[in-house]
Amino acid sequence: MLIRLSPDAASTDLPSDITPKHAYLNRRALLQQSLGLGLLTGMGAAWSQTGPTPTVVPGKLPALASKRSALENALAVDVPTAYTYASTYNNYYEFGTDKSEPARNAHTLKTKPWTLEIEGLVKKPMRLGLEEVMKLGAMEERIYRMRCVEGWSMVIPWIGFSLSTLVKHVEPLGSAKFIEFVTLADPKTMPNVGSRVLDWPYIEGLRMDEAMHPLTLLTFGMYGEILPNQNGAPIRLNVPWKYGFKNAKSIVKIRFTDKQPATAWNKAAANEYGFYSNVNPNVDHPRWSQATERRIGEDGLFNKKRKTLMFNGYEAQVASLYSGMDLSKNF
Ligand code: MTE
Repeated sequence: MLIRLSPDAASTDLPSDITPKHAYLNRRALLQQSLGLGLLTGMGAAWSQTGPTPTVVPGKLPALASKRSALENALAVDVPTAYTYASTYNNYYEFGTDKSEPARNAHTLKTKPWTLEIEGLVKKPMRLGLEEVMKLGAMEERIYRMRCVEGWSMVIPWIGFSLSTLVKHVEPLGSAKFIEFVTLADPKTMPNVGSRVLDWPYIEGLRMDEAMHPLTLLTFGMYGEILPNQNGAPIRLNVPWKYGFKNAKSIVKIRFTDKQPATAWNKAAANEYGFYSNVNPNVDHPRWSQATERRIGEDGLFNKKRKTLMFNGYEAQVASLYSGMDLSKNF
């Protein structure tokens, strides 16, 4: 697969240790071998998938001090989805509701300059430029399973650092119980923001303990490169035990609050999309089962659907956050 690098992506004064994609793939192969998994997992086949041709190609992630997270071991049995699928089969409703539209339309998204505003119940409210945000933490590569509420899934090597790093930096007050994530809604660059399909801006929220969980990733890149626009450049969230829509893209504001945020999908259909939206094979969506999923790139006559795992496979890490809660009521 040929990846064109954008000429302006290299400029940074941060220490640079970029992992090129071929090195990343070699590293994955080595890891697989060291775990004795070799190609049995089908990894070689997956990476040779051609998939559709990406129409928007990003540059390398500047200043990536990449290191393999401990989680990668746990997830080594999962085959990463081919980059071409991850960057062309997207939900980003501001650019259209069809899966192929974000990749076609999101080239209009202007990610430079970018300001992240942090406000609400914190000791140190601040406005930070993208580079300042990126300097707050050491970038890590985290390979996460992602499960969309629609019943498909992917496995994606993200790049970022735990959201908790940023949260600690702004010193939340004791009264802060939730964090609201507000994303860009610019009718000039986002063709679908004029539509009434959602109440713009797209808003998501987490309870404070969910936001502080080390798996919750403030994300700047994927597959060793800066995020393509359609994947939520320049800053998005990844909370791998929750349905995909919790992962707000192109975040412009992070607000600390004492009230549960009114989130975009919950406002649109509260009976279908709860605030928590933890991946749960035992709680059906009112219109379909959530017991199984289709892994993108694995389609084919002989490929069965996969069983969806409780908390998307992260039960050991996150179930304690919800002990004592009725998960069929708090879906
Ligand atoms: N963020 C914004 N701003 N707008 C969106 O439409 N879609 C959500 C989430 N974040 C969405 C968003 C949904 S429904 C999913 S499944 C994931 O992004 C998809 O992320 P991906 O396209 O990178 O797989």
